[in-house]
Amino acid sequence: PLYQKAEYLKSVPTLDLCPEEIVYEVAFAGRSNAGKSSALNVITSQKSLARTSKTPGRTQLINFFPVDETRALVDLPGYGFAKVNINTKRAWEAGLSEYVEKREQLKGLILLMDCRIPPTEIDLQMLDWTAEIGLPVHVLLTKADKLKKGPAKAQLMQLKKMLKAEYPHASAQLFSSLKKDGLDQVWQQLDTWMEY
Ligand code: GTP
Ligand code: MG
Repeated sequence: PLYQKAEYLKSVPTLDLCPEEIVYEVAFAGRSNAGKSSALNVITSQKSLARTSKTPGRTQLINFFPVDETRALVDLPGYGFAKVNINTKRAWEAGLSEYVEKREQLKGLILLMDCRIPPTEIDLQMLDWTAEIGLPVHVLLTKADKLKKGPAKAQLMQLKKMLKAEYPHASAQLFSSLKKDGLDQVWQQLDTWMEY
């Protein structure tokens, strides 16, 4: 309900242009097409707050969606999109790591991964960067509606085992934007990070 108030504020290409008035923010990261924008829309109960697309690489800027005067949700550019050239790709990755590592307002990272696709190199890199700076991560295994309950749970268990062993700063859950499954758990995580 709190997150229903989210409104689009602006999109910026780099850290130095991020809004200063925000005190608490939570960013949504993940490979292109993982379902970041869809998740944001469901979490805020809005149909088209964040743009979703069948074309990967749609979200190319850091997009700010304040919920109130001091709190914001942030949609980050999807990474790992093969169809952009290597320099563009490197620039994105540099911008992304700078934001994640230096943005003081950032209290937590929601990392989205398609439940059918194993973590990519950049997913693991995100987990490494955040571990280094002690930024907590909550992984959403997205598109859970694409798997049957048993296999979905097995994916979650496998991921949790890996996180426990290698990335204890990260937690995980199943999520489906399509079915709106897992919403309460995400809201709870956001509330904690935003100090609601
Ligand atoms: P970029 O902005 O390119 O980084 O992508 P994104 O991570 O924001 O993905 P987006 O939310 O645009 O979703 C990509 C595609 O996956 C769209 O076709 C969505 O409709 C679909 N999708 C997203 N979430 C779900 C889900 O929970 N279930 C199913 N079945 N499809 C989903
Ligand atoms: Mg997007």
